[in-house]
Amino acid sequence: MKNKALIILSVILLVASCSNDAKETVPKKKSTWKPEMDQPSELASIMRAMNTEALERKASLEVGELGKVSSDLIFNLITATPTEPHMKGPAFEPHANSFIKSYEAIGAAENVEGQISAHNNLVKSCVACHMNFCQGPIPRIEKLYIQ
Ligand code: HEC
Repeated sequence: MKNKALIILSVILLVASCSNDAKETVPKKKSTWKPEMDQPSELASIMRAMNTEALERKASLEVGELGKVSSDLIFNLITATPTEPHMKGPAFEPHANSFIKSYEAIGAAENVEGQISAHNNLVKSCVACHMNFCQGPIPRIEKLYIQ
């Protein structure tokens, strides 16, 4: 009985991780017991790091400085394990590959203007993949655009 309830609870939480964008900003009550399922998947961790990096790059570009790019960040994108298998269908890899191309263009940009347009292109690739696999974070991703 207890197991069944736990399974149902974890299914709800897993679905929420892809649909409820507000979840992360709600402060959690402090507790010494941390359930396993609170750990982000390998893919979700990469996503969070990419999101943070893109926010930092946006801030740099907005004050006229080139932003950082670290290809280590996206190295495991294609092989990373998602929270749920269905979060990575056959279209994942082509999206990831075009994303990686956009990412390389950011590193190749020689000036702020060029990097801003490469950055905005990258954000477009984030959104394109998310339309297929994980729509919850799209409003947050769209805030990464530089106007
Ligand atoms: C090739 C497809 C793809 C691309 C490209 C992509 N994402 Fe994701 N993203 C996903 C999938 C699938 C998940 C769900 C991962 C999981 O829960 O394991 C996800 C999850 C996320 C999450 C939620 C992570 C969490 O805390 O649960 C954020 C935020 C995110 N992506 C931001 C971005 C940003 C920003 C970019 C571009 C810099 C991006 N994504 C590019 C497929 C993609």
